[in-house]
Amino acid sequence: MNAAIRAVVQFGLDARLEMFAVHQGFRGLVEDSLFHIRAPDVTSMIQKPGTILFSSRYAEFKSDSALEMALQNLKRLDIDAVIGIGGGGTQRGLYDLSKRGFPVVGIIATINNDVYGTDISIGVDTALNVALESIDRLNITASALDRAFIVEVMGRDCGYLALMAGLAGGADAIIVPEQPTEPDQVAALLHGAYRRCKHSALAVVAEGAKYNGDALVRYFDEHRTTLGFDLRLTKLGHVQRGATPTAFDRILATRLGIHAIQTIRQQTHCVMVGWKDGKPATAPLNEVVANKKEFDLELLAQAHVLAT
Ligand code: F6P
Repeated sequence: MNAAIRAVVQFGLDARLEMFAVHQGFRGLVEDSLFHIRAPDVTSMIQKPGTILFSSRYAEFKSDSALEMALQNLKRLDIDAVIGIGGGGTQRGLYDLSKRGFPVVGIIATINNDVYGTDISIGVDTALNVALESIDRLNITASALDRAFIVEVMGRDCGYLALMAGLAGGADAIIVPEQPTEPDQVAALLHGAYRRCKHSALAVVAEGAKYNGDALVRYFDEHRTTLGFDLRLTKLGHVQRGATPTAFDRILATRLGIHAIQTIRQQTHCVMVGWKDGKPATAPLNEVVANKKEFDLELLAQAHVLAT
């Protein structure tokens, strides 16, 4: 997100716009935490993980009173448009502001990659590489000790991170919310690894799957005698966030930031800036919030063929 903030500020200043920053996202809009931001504030930050502006989970922004307060603060400072960087909740909050007539542009950033209107989101590649590094390490322990591992990755209700981490890590089973998988099917996939003479077996499970890491471990504990191998669970959790951004993410965030300023300068509002077919693209916010991003079930099936 810092790379996107840097690009927005630098390109905004280059276009002779007066730039404000907001602390803690929607909370800062409501609580009047806005301040001028200038070039020196965004130097040496393309490689910094996270956001210098801080973030918040701010459910209150759904209320009329919070939205009105945000609009009052924006109007008092004579602000013409807001650019918001974040995932599905951020795009919905921006859409709510726009429904009250305020010009907004969203930039998509979420490790879940669960938002309609973009192929990829800022943060996904970095989080994916963190998950992959962990999977590679766990595979080494798994094969040294002839063990099976379950690795649970984040993603909220979306299996994208699990699918891609599993595909890149050569997982023997990938369990996602979009494709209900029973524990005995997972056991069969793990057994398949041993049948193929592997010395280890590894399943990647999405945190949002019906049988997530805990549920699978409970099941396997109850069926230990029939299972026939030792199983360990590793939940990656929040360590997937906060890593030094990959080159891909830095470039993606920079290009989306630039595109957000260009979009505002063309007087186009109420859109989300994302990435489509290899370049920055905008999608109307009403479509973004109304639609569900499609999950690639065919790729999931192909990943399982690779593991048979
Ligand atoms: O939406 C991004 C995400 O990291 C999800 O993958 C995860 O479920 C959630 O946030 C965790 O939220 P929090 O940090 O508020 O616990």
